[in-house]
Amino acid sequence: MIKKDFVDIGDSSRIYMEEARGQAGGTARPAKAAAAKPAEPAPEAKPPAYGLIGKATNRIDGRMVVTGQAKYTHDVKLKGMLIGKILRSPRAAAELVSIDLAPALAVPGVMAALKLAEGKVRYAGQQVAAVAALDERTAEKALGLIKVEYKPLPYVVDWEKARDAGAPQVREGKPNVEKINEYGRGDVAKGFAESDVIVEKTYRTGFEVHNPTETHGSVAVWEGDHLVVYDSTQNVHSVRDGLARVLKVPAANVTVIKNYMGGGFGSKLGVNDYTIAAANLARQAGRPVKVLLSRRDNAVCVGYRPSSSQTYKVGAKKDGTLTALQLTNMASGGVGSGDDVGEPAVDIYKCPNCKVFEETVYTNTGGSRAMRAPGHTQGDFGLEGVMDELAAALDMDPLDLRRKNYSTKNLGDTGIPYSSKGLDICYELGAKAIGWERRNRRPGEGTGDGPRRRGIGVATSIWYGAGVPGTLADIVLYPDMSVEVVCGTQDLGTGTRTHMAVVAAETLGLDPKDITIKIGNSDYPWAPGSGGSQTTPSVAPAVRDAALKAVERLKTVAAARLKIEAGDVVMADRRFSSKSDPARSAAFGDVYRDLRRETVFHGERGGMPMDQFAFNTFGAHFAEVEVNVETGRIRVIKYAAVQDSGQVVNRLTAESQVIGGITQGLSAGLFEERVMDDATGNPVNPNLRDYKIGTSLDIPEITVLFADVFDPRINNLGVKGLGEPARVPSSAAIANAVYNAIGVHVREIPMTPKRVLETLKRKEAAS
Ligand code: MOS
Repeated sequence: MIKKDFVDIGDSSRIYMEEARGQAGGTARPAKAAAAKPAEPAPEAKPPAYGLIGKATNRIDGRMVVTGQAKYTHDVKLKGMLIGKILRSPRAAAELVSIDLAPALAVPGVMAALKLAEGKVRYAGQQVAAVAALDERTAEKALGLIKVEYKPLPYVVDWEKARDAGAPQVREGKPNVEKINEYGRGDVAKGFAESDVIVEKTYRTGFEVHNPTETHGSVAVWEGDHLVVYDSTQNVHSVRDGLARVLKVPAANVTVIKNYMGGGFGSKLGVNDYTIAAANLARQAGRPVKVLLSRRDNAVCVGYRPSSSQTYKVGAKKDGTLTALQLTNMASGGVGSGDDVGEPAVDIYKCPNCKVFEETVYTNTGGSRAMRAPGHTQGDFGLEGVMDELAAALDMDPLDLRRKNYSTKNLGDTGIPYSSKGLDICYELGAKAIGWERRNRRPGEGTGDGPRRRGIGVATSIWYGAGVPGTLADIVLYPDMSVEVVCGTQDLGTGTRTHMAVVAAETLGLDPKDITIKIGNSDYPWAPGSGGSQTTPSVAPAVRDAALKAVERLKTVAAARLKIEAGDVVMADRRFSSKSDPARSAAFGDVYRDLRRETVFHGERGGMPMDQFAFNTFGAHFAEVEVNVETGRIRVIKYAAVQDSGQVVNRLTAESQVIGGITQGLSAGLFEERVMDDATGNPVNPNLRDYKIGTSLDIPEITVLFADVFDPRINNLGVKGLGEPARVPSSAAIANAVYNAIGVHVREIPMTPKRVLETLKRKEAAS
């Protein structure tokens, strides 16, 4: 799905964003959408009364996972399999003078070796050469014997220094700073002139590294001229297509398999350079080759969330009506582009005058990648921060300010109404759940217990997540009453198998345990990458479609057995019966047996009226924190999150997604930051000891609620995505709670104790 080779620098999240917008109805839709006549918002519709959908269902494969039986890419072991290792550049910029593989190839047990770079190295961690050997120790020893001669070149890893006129040029013949986004509506100068209050502040977000439980890895094996790759990936189809393109083999001769997986968060969306290396080593050695990346590799060469430095200038009338909103951002994504973060500023609030200008600055560090709601997560921290500072300047309740200004239509370029008014429900339910009335009326007003100050904050979420039309799923019914659902989607760990089983079981009148799920194979019917919060809203409707067709056939078969009209058949309690004469009835088993052979039903996720409705997802998060003003330590003590993601399929895994989004936002908001070392051009914290990640001890009491908005125009189930929506506002809600507690806004994440104490000094200086 992502149209770029990631062989060199990794996928930029901007490419991913274009995909997510195009599929889910954001501001980047073609201009013709703007010309379409906006339809009225959907009439209040009620979902059917389901037995399973919307309830909590345990994972059908939970036991497999917790007992260690589920096979991950790291677990794959093939006969004759070699271990591949990659040599990476220790230098941030250099001319590659020579690579000598001969000493490595001379080591007994080394079966293949490759050069992986020529010309210039542009970041530390870039792959240079590889070996495959009988075991890991031999491979590592051989790697150390490869002779690489580098001619060092000047480099820059600090994004602020990279902006200087005299900074080393990261890209050949191009400046380090490049425009990535520009947007405007109305006239901001006029808007500021009309305002009673203007607030202008700068918010910064750091480099947040994806740290999936399972690091990246691939196993490649050639079966004749057919390549089979086991890959820890979010997109088996795009890895297949990428491998075919780079290796110049037909896509039909490549199969990518992803059985179980320990997360990706956007860092595993496309084909990776080490996967291509594994395939080439396997070809050279004539044996399977396994390449697993280390935790250090994870920090240097497979992406991270790019940084941002966002300056907002916002004007409002005394009553809180926004009159002008201006955002200037400088992002940095290493040798790749940073994210544009303007979407929340453009679309959440109905400000008539809005202007966005964004640039990225290139540095000699590995390229950034899409990370859980790329751009929106950073932008939401800035926008929701300045909204709170504006509320204080207006002496207004920050929630009232939001409820006065939130938009019910896409403002970016279409003016098309959002498909529900779920956001207001989110505000209302969340405020109640957290006890909003307990907040300090003005930031910093609380007296607290000794050095501890408490505060409560809110932030708003907007994202895409309507799913991808054209997603396919097959249902196979067997005469022995077994049922199989087959789809080329993948489960990142979110519970995809279970939601598929729930939808199939609901529709067929069975139990989720009766359904066999087959996913994670590029030979199966097409499904999009598991990114962009599009898995459930793509796959669930396709499964529903196939299952509805299966039920139709079963009713026809039952009608023949019962000698009644098909229209007279009803399905209940594992029987097909005559509606008019309930005595005529056949058990499921008999009707399935009448099928005589396995029978396949093809399902497809249908289209949606993209020119009439903007299919976004929404949410509101509320956090309560306690800040120690002597140590600068922040503790999140209570949290309430409300999401509008349409119809929930499995409440249990949906709640898990939201808890995960909050945990990740808490961690990024308080702890996580990759720090680069100017002196070596390498990160100083490429491990889980020095790069801090929140643990179970940091997680507060969390209440997860759903707005339960149902809109059947989205798809046949009214389902929208949830993975990213739950991450967008979480750092922002916590930062706003800190502001409410201490009266000064910590305008940079992570909000380390040092930054909190520095911020408190700003307060002293002001008083
Ligand atoms: Mo993504 S950034 O894998 O949804």
